[in-house]
Amino acid sequence: MAASCLQLKVRPFKAPFPSKSPSPPRWGIIRCSATSTTKRYTITLLPGDGIGPEVISVAKDVLIVAGSQEGIEFRFQEMPVGGAALDLTGVPLPDETLSMAKQSDAILLGAIGGYFQFSIFNFHFQLMYKWDNNEKHLKPETGLLQLRAGLGVFANLRPASVFPQLVDSSTLKKEVAEGVDLIVVRELTGGIYFGKPRGFTTNEKGEEIGFNTEVYATYEIDRIARVAFETARKRRGKLCSVDKANVLEASMLWRKRVTTMASEYPDIELSHMYVDNAAMQLIRNPKQFDTIVTNNIFGDILSDEASMITGSIGMLPSASLGETGPGLFEPIHGSAPDIAGQIEVYCVPCDAYLDKANPLATVLSVVMLLKYGLREENAAKRIENAVMDTLTRGFRTGDIYSTGKVHTVVQSVIHLKLFNFWNIYALGKFKLIPASRKLFSLHPSVYRFLTFPLPLIETVNC
Ligand code: IPM
Ligand code: MG
Repeated sequence: MAASCLQLKVRPFKAPFPSKSPSPPRWGIIRCSATSTTKRYTITLLPGDGIGPEVISVAKDVLIVAGSQEGIEFRFQEMPVGGAALDLTGVPLPDETLSMAKQSDAILLGAIGGYFQFSIFNFHFQLMYKWDNNEKHLKPETGLLQLRAGLGVFANLRPASVFPQLVDSSTLKKEVAEGVDLIVVRELTGGIYFGKPRGFTTNEKGEEIGFNTEVYATYEIDRIARVAFETARKRRGKLCSVDKANVLEASMLWRKRVTTMASEYPDIELSHMYVDNAAMQLIRNPKQFDTIVTNNIFGDILSDEASMITGSIGMLPSASLGETGPGLFEPIHGSAPDIAGQIEVYCVPCDAYLDKANPLATVLSVVMLLKYGLREENAAKRIENAVMDTLTRGFRTGDIYSTGKVHTVVQSVIHLKLFNFWNIYALGKFKLIPASRKLFSLHPSVYRFLTFPLPLIETVNC
């Protein structure tokens, strides 16, 4: 197919506040530089639970559009995992899901776990944590851990950078948060999450006890340490290894092996820190960190903490990579059942219902998928630029809203703009977003009367 250029007429879009972008706005005619397809990839989509399906559907659209502009065609196979899989098949990770995932080029996961929820019109009811009373092997989280182990993705990269546009969303003082750019390299398939022995038993007094084992073999420490040193080398050359070597044997071995490997990386400045101190330093002075390497459980905790420096966990992506096979890419946030399925707004020009959840952590996970999973730097850059541009123009979802940007009451309009911008401007192609939740099979004009902020749409010229 010869290279083509699509010209699509879209209605002019007016930002609600002045654009800080140096490039002139591309209102009106959108050029879509579609090139001939040269590459094809199969992506396994695992939407999971809660807001998972919503954010995955946005990420999928973004992937298709960016791919079409770089001559890449994606084939998607959607498989169940977590609670969705439990409901459908009775197990949190069906064999088919794992084997299809293994055969694909990359895996994109939404989120897992959640409440039992139902809605009547726009009232949402949550009864309980739906799978809470399940036995451990039938919990949604077990599906995720089985997936990570099954794919052998031992290296989990969790970057946490403060976007200059979002510095006011951080709960830390501006001067503390500004310029933070760190990455947590978390060991993902070992340690206390998987260590044996584990279980429940009774002690000598007959009391019930639960126990787990924090265990690391040298090969597990060496391979994650190598990923961390290599990561630091591509960044600012500083590596901080976080452990609890003053108390735990597994951490003592961790420190010994990381220190030994440092001789192979004389260009990297290595330091060690106890995890309690690291938790404190992350809040006190996060800019001191470049690359952090740590075990499974400390990485879980510290990466959530680091996310708050950036303003919202709704912005943080992750990549999980193994020695061979496809990578697993997922936002670090959970399934956010409290906002799942909540339609925030009906987008008149898009003719679509838009969800409340921030899709950017998943969209940024797509960037990591393209960069680390497929080595498609150009498509990755396209999406990264679009995210930056969207934020620069001031579009915000509720979680990254801050005073001075827009009035809270227009959040949903901002959300609308975000999606609209994504689809019309940032990626240069007009596309309808399908209604992600068809809770209301009513005509949109009826729906307008059911949701508080909707009348505001009338004031938005998109
Ligand atoms: C994460 C999550 C998971 C973890 C849960 C859902 C099992 O918190 O990816 O950070 O603990 O690894
Ligand atoms: Mg976590």
